[in-house]
Amino acid sequence: MDGGTYWWGTRTVPIMSTDDSRRHYIDGEWTTGTGDETFTSQNPATGEALASFHRGTEDDVDHALAAAEDAYDEWRSLSHIDRAEYLWDIYHELRDRHEELGEIVTMECGKEISEGLADVTESWHMVEWAAGNARHPHGDVVPSEIASKDAYMRRKPKGVVGCITPWNFPVAIPFWHLAVTLVEGNTVVWKPAEQTPWCAHIIAEMFEDSGIPDGVFNLVQGYGDAGNAIVEDDRVETVLFTGSAEVGHKIASKVGGEPGKIAACEMGGKNAVVVTDEADLDVAVHSAVMSSFKTTGQRCVSSERLIVHEDLYDEFKERFVDIAEDIAVGDPLEEDTFMGPLIEEDQVEKFKRYNDLAREEGANVLVDRADLGAEEIPDGHEEGHWVGPFVYEVDYDEDLRCINEEVFGPHVALLEYSGDFDEALEMHNSVDYGLAGAIISEDYRQINQFRDEAEIGLAYGNLPCIGAEVHLPFGGVKKSGNGLPSGREVIEAVTERTAWTLNNSKDIEMAQGLSADIITDE
Ligand code: UN1
Repeated sequence: MDGGTYWWGTRTVPIMSTDDSRRHYIDGEWTTGTGDETFTSQNPATGEALASFHRGTEDDVDHALAAAEDAYDEWRSLSHIDRAEYLWDIYHELRDRHEELGEIVTMECGKEISEGLADVTESWHMVEWAAGNARHPHGDVVPSEIASKDAYMRRKPKGVVGCITPWNFPVAIPFWHLAVTLVEGNTVVWKPAEQTPWCAHIIAEMFEDSGIPDGVFNLVQGYGDAGNAIVEDDRVETVLFTGSAEVGHKIASKVGGEPGKIAACEMGGKNAVVVTDEADLDVAVHSAVMSSFKTTGQRCVSSERLIVHEDLYDEFKERFVDIAEDIAVGDPLEEDTFMGPLIEEDQVEKFKRYNDLAREEGANVLVDRADLGAEEIPDGHEEGHWVGPFVYEVDYDEDLRCINEEVFGPHVALLEYSGDFDEALEMHNSVDYGLAGAIISEDYRQINQFRDEAEIGLAYGNLPCIGAEVHLPFGGVKKSGNGLPSGREVIEAVTERTAWTLNNSKDIEMAQGLSADIITDE
């Protein structure tokens, strides 16, 4: 990385120079590409430009896909273990540069520093899993009906994989997509979120440093048009997408019409924490605050609904509201901050539109810190995208838009239920999404019922509904996902299975009692 240093409060942190726009990494070269547009990455806490990047075009994607296709045969001919060696180099670099990268994550996407650091930790966990998995069994030995036959399930790479990643985990999610995909023998063209190109640039530098063969890993910076060019190209066998439902569903329906091609999409939620009549209130309040306000509500697993039993409702409400009133919003680089800014101005507007909508739909507003007072905004950060929590209660009606549509911000509805646990489950499952959720209860029957009947891909008991570990599958059901572009299950999306049967005898003998006799008229 070039560029010098940047004075930030009490720290000196490196940034790249802004006078020279960063390039794409295609076929082992840094290239400006064919377009003449550039775009800047901005610090959402200050509004300052961090660095400038070339904006990728369809031609740049074409160039990257050609490189990925050319590199494929040689890459797939290496062993899993040899391919993983390149990833181990990156694993060590991620660990060695933990502090530096954590700060860059925080500067570019605004999450507070412990989250910036955890993003980097999550990324090396994913690399560790993928590279370590190179030495683990990759298929099954299956019995055959015929004793002289060996039967196996084997995996082989799919080919060129397109990766499209979001800004909110700008280091971790790219490695969810890239690490397993590469170790399995695929080559990659990656389009990261336009909000976090600096993190992406550093990841590409790490791939360059690792000496991975040219064309195996390609980065095209830019916007949706570049992503779309990846999705639409026939050379791409699998698209891995993590991001908004709006974009993900378009990708899934485009790709669904093309035989042999698949899109694994993971897309947000309208997640809930259910606090039952058997809940421990301390655990409930703690879990709800973390679920709703970590990452300023901008995780796809964040909770915008808290479904609380009437017996505990008033006390829960009082305690949750108290914390929401005081939760520390501030400079994300400071360790005493809980919530940083929203990512961009459009997101602030969306958050406020949904707050207005909740009011129109009859909400009783309990906390409204959407417009923070000047004294709440840290010095020198006046241009940041600041908001605080918005918390409301509303009489439950399953059709209310404010409790069905994902806001992606600290917009939280308290919903009271009475009666038995089935009531809560019905409310929980009434949304179109199905990503993450939590139950807070001391009753194992309620907990197990939630585990079995909650329509979600990530379910938690007596915990926040955030914080999945990489060696679990990560993904949702219903509108939240159609595959698992993340965690260990990505292997299903980036490999094909071969059912392989070998005859060890000179005689041909068939399963199912099928005759192997050749009968002629002679
Ligand atoms: C996301 O919410 O966009 O489970 C990803 C978690 C993290 C990943 C979240 N491991 O909260």
